[in-house]
Amino acid sequence: GTGSFIVIDRMTNVTVGAGMVHRMLESEPPYEYRTHDSKAEVVWNRSSVTPEMRAHIKGHAGKCIWFTGLSGSGKSTLANALEVELNRRGYHTMLLDGDNIRHGLCKDLAMSEADRTENIRRVGEIAKLFADAGIIVITAFISPFRSDRAAARELFADGDFIEVHVDTPLAICEQRDPKGLYEKARQGKIKDFTGINSPYEVPEKPEIAVDSTSHSQQELVTQILKKVV
Ligand code: ADX
Repeated sequence: GTGSFIVIDRMTNVTVGAGMVHRMLESEPPYEYRTHDSKAEVVWNRSSVTPEMRAHIKGHAGKCIWFTGLSGSGKSTLANALEVELNRRGYHTMLLDGDNIRHGLCKDLAMSEADRTENIRRVGEIAKLFADAGIIVITAFISPFRSDRAAARELFADGDFIEVHVDTPLAICEQRDPKGLYEKARQGKIKDFTGINSPYEVPEKPEIAVDSTSHSQQELVTQILKKVV
């Protein structure tokens, strides 16, 4: 499986270069599945049924619609309304919601920057698996860090990751405070609260930015639908 070579100048017979084969391209997983710091010796097993074949049976391809925004911005509500509408039109969907995922898959994670990064890494991977199954997966996570969102995007082909920034001003989210968490954060009872004492990095080029303060939910769902199906 490996070998080496040297490059010789024809005119002078001088060796001008050398190389070594260290890995065969054929046995390499697609880029999106390479773990650069993986400690385990694992190979990639290719499946005979491809994402395209799964999508063919479903009648549509899988993709990821990634909602990001502050707590209380309206991500979950909007993601839910979008799923209802897609479902009504016969699309196969799956909704991954921050609060819910943190009850199961990510219940070992807290709200430190490192834990949020791991949270989003897992969600990205799960979203990719659902998309490969031919499902339109909708995620609703604060996902406050640009690099984490970029890493999730990297898992998908161009056009299959649609970032939706629910751009509700902090003051309004705090006013809504549906879970009473902003109040607790202001009282110092919650540390690392996004927008208060933990940063939110605004998306620079989201596919869609929605303003939940000046448009109705139905208008926003229609706006998003136009870009996703
Ligand atoms: S993320 O930052 O890792 O993307 P995620 O979306 O999973 O966050 O979870 C956010 C939800 O956890 C919020 O909607 C809120 O209900 C709750 N929460 C609890 N503590 C915090 C905190 N310190 N900062 C933000 N949200 C918090």
